[in-house]
Amino acid sequence: MLKPNKLVNKNFLSSLDISTEEVFHILELAKNFKNKDLKIESSNKVLGLIFDKSSTRTRVSFQVAMSRLGGSTIDLNPDTSQIGRGEPIKDTARVLSRYCDVLAIRTFNQSDLEEYAKWSSAPVINALTDLEHPCQALADFMTIKEEFYDFKNIVLSFIGDGNNVANSLILCGALLDVEVRIACPKGYEPNQLIVNKAREIYKNKNLLQITNDPYSSVSGANVLYTDVWSSMGEEIQKEEKDKDFSGFTIDKNLVSMADKDVIILHCLPAYRSKEITDEVFESNKSRIFEQAENRMHVQQALLLSLLS
Ligand code: CP
Ligand code: NVA
Repeated sequence: MLKPNKLVNKNFLSSLDISTEEVFHILELAKNFKNKDLKIESSNKVLGLIFDKSSTRTRVSFQVAMSRLGGSTIDLNPDTSQIGRGEPIKDTARVLSRYCDVLAIRTFNQSDLEEYAKWSSAPVINALTDLEHPCQALADFMTIKEEFYDFKNIVLSFIGDGNNVANSLILCGALLDVEVRIACPKGYEPNQLIVNKAREIYKNKNLLQITNDPYSSVSGANVLYTDVWSSMGEEIQKEEKDKDFSGFTIDKNLVSMADKDVIILHCLPAYRSKEITDEVFESNKSRIFEQAENRMHVQQALLLSLLS
């Protein structure tokens, strides 16, 4: 029977905190959880959620994943705990990790997440920062694997902002040797350190392309992916970004230039007629709700692997 392997790193702060083999193992565990072929419990364990930003999918999928493992979740709202009143992260982390077995944190700065991890005696999971969204990338690649069975010759084209979601797709794509193309307006390219790290992993293979031309990026692609143009925390830039991203909407014209069996992904929440048209969002090429469901299965596998 498939068994969880304890992850080599204690924390999951970045897509690169797990190895290629560990990604494949988590995807396999997740598939078995999804097919109900696996019943492993990690009873009585407690997950603490600390979310400085809003969430629907991440919060609920973590809660359900934990309850499916026989454990429970405490949802710590920074507004009603001392976190919101400025208690230092190093104190909060040392206290909460004595109560909880694992912490999932959604915040702004990656350095704050790293500070939690430094002081926490329990594993810390990145539930989204401004820099990365690694749990999302695991669910995305699980969805791609379900559709295409393996990652051989898959081309993933992300059209939009070079944001946290794009950064984690780049890193996880590099671990899995998937060709990743990012098309964004000038000035909105993904983080250069992330791009450099991915290129190191790809070695001399030329599998990461950053371009300002959505049309060349989608040509022959198997997966078209997009995300909001303005992420949480960027509300004041919204009007300017809406103008800058004109021409980067995934519409039927763009889809027609991709591979004929292309699938459409979006991490959600989605803004129709901004980054994607309603027609494409609702089309039979969309796997957006499978992708959302897979958040729960990969996180169940991830939690189990961290708690084993
Ligand atoms: N995709 C995602 O992380 O959604 P939420 O912001 O609703 O958690
Ligand atoms: N890039 C988006 C993702 C939301 C899940 C944000 O950070 O708001």
